[in-house]
Amino acid sequence: MTDVHDAVHTDEAPVGATIRTGLGADGPVTVPADRYTSASFAALEHDRLWPRVWQLACTVDHVAEPGSVFDYRLADRSVLVVRGADGALRGFENVCLHRGSELCPGSATGLDELRCPYHRWSWDLTGRLREVPSRKGFGVLPPEDYALRSVAVDTWGPLVFVHPGPADDDHPGLVEFLGEVPGDVAWAGLDDFRCRYLVSIPLAANWKTIIDGFSETYHVQGIHREMLGSVDDVDGPQTIWAHHGKLEQRYGLPSPRLRNRPDDEAVWQSFVEVMGERIGIGDKATAGPAPAVPEGSTLRDVLASRLRAHNETKGLDFSAYDDDRLLTMSQYNLFPNITMVVFPDLLSVVRARPGATPDEGVMDVFVFDRVPADPAPPRTPPLDVTLPPDGDLPIGLVLGQDVANAERAQRGLHQPGFTRVTLSDEECRIWNLHRNLEAWLGISPTEITGR
Ligand code: FES
Ligand SMILES: [Fe+2]
Repeated sequence: MTDVHDAVHTDEAPVGATIRTGLGADGPVTVPADRYTSASFAALEHDRLWPRVWQLACTVDHVAEPGSVFDYRLADRSVLVVRGADGALRGFENVCLHRGSELCPGSATGLDELRCPYHRWSWDLTGRLREVPSRKGFGVLPPEDYALRSVAVDTWGPLVFVHPGPADDDHPGLVEFLGEVPGDVAWAGLDDFRCRYLVSIPLAANWKTIIDGFSETYHVQGIHREMLGSVDDVDGPQTIWAHHGKLEQRYGLPSPRLRNRPDDEAVWQSFVEVMGERIGIGDKATAGPAPAVPEGSTLRDVLASRLRAHNETKGLDFSAYDDDRLLTMSQYNLFPNITMVVFPDLLSVVRARPGATPDEGVMDVFVFDRVPADPAPPRTPPLDVTLPPDGDLPIGLVLGQDVANAERAQRGLHQPGFTRVTLSDEECRIWNLHRNLEAWLGISPTEITGR
C-alpha cells in the first residue's frame, strides 16, 4: 500500500505557509473556525477575493448562440456573459448606467440589445449605448462614459470564466491562472463535453464548507459507505500546485478500509449503486448478479470492457483509453470554489457560491455528457433548475449525500468551544484553499501544530 505521506507531493508555490511534503508528518494544520462563520471574514472575501479571481460563470452551452445572455450571480454581484452578433463573448456588470437599476433580470436568449426595464435605456451587445428615451433632456452623453462596464471573460473547454476586477486591473490571464491543470487533463478532451443541466441548491452553509466536502475523500467512510465496496478511498495520490490540486482515485475495487475483503458480488453491487449508469445500468434493481470473470482477468477488467461497450452504443470510441484510465477518477480542485470530476465518459463540476450571509451558500452541479467529436452535435442550452436541498435531487446518490451533510457541517462550526478546524494530509486540498485564501486576503497563514 502506498503511504499517503509519499502520495502527496507539492510543487514550488509562492504563497502562504511553507510548502511541505506530507502534511501531518509534524502535526496537523489548523485553521481558525471563524473563517467559516464570521461576517468580517466574509466581508474580506467579498472585497479582496471575489473581485480579484478568475471564477467559473457558466458553460459555453449556456451562451452558444448570438444574443444569449447568462446572468452569473455571486452574493450581491451579477455579471452578464453575453454572446455578441459577431460571435465574441463579453462580460458586463449587470447595472444600468442611468440610475443603477439591475439591467437584466436573468439569463435570456435571442436578444439583440440589453434594455433596462425602468426607463428603457438600451445598449447593443458590445456594451455601447444605443438608445435613450428623451435623450435631449440629458444634454451630451459621451458614449465612452456610458459604455457598460466590461468584465474579463475567457473559456477553457466547455467552461466560461469571468474575472470581475476593473478592466484596467493588472491580473493574470485565465491560461496563467489555470496553470498546470489544462495540460494535466488534456487526455480527457474536455471540448467534447456538453453541459446537459445545471442544478443549483441553496444551502444554509458557507461556500467553503460546501466545497471542502469536495476537496477530500476522507469522508467516504463517513457519509458514502455504499462506495466502500468499489473504491480505493485510501491510496489515491494527490497533487498540490500553486493554486489548484488533484486527486486520482481508482474505482472497481474495494476500499482497503474493509477488514473483510468483499467478494466480486459485493464489489459489483457497490459499483452499480454508485455509478451503474456508466455501464448502462440506471437502476440497481435491474443489475442482476456480478458478471462472470474470465480466467486471468479481474472484475475491474470486466467493468472496463462493459464501460467501453456501453459508450460504443453512444458512438464514442474509447479504445485509446486503457482500463485503468476508464476506472480512475481525476478530481481537480480549482481555487477558489470549484471541483471537477473527470473520467473519459464523465465530467461533472461542482461550484460553491457565497450567499448573503456567511451561513448561506449555493451548491451548483454542472452535469456534462461526452459527445462524438466528429461530427459534433450542435450545442443546445442546458436545463437550469434551482431546487431545495430536501427535495428529490437529480444528482445521484453520492452528491445527494454530500448535500444532506453540508448544513450539519456548518451548524457545528458555531459552537463557542470550537475554535479551529484540524486537517490531516488527506485533507491537503482544503489546506491549499486556505493558504491561497490567506495570500489573496493578506492575512496570517494557518498554523501547523503538534511539533
Ligand atoms: S435606471 Fe435604467 S433606464 Fe433608468
Ligand atoms: Fe462526498
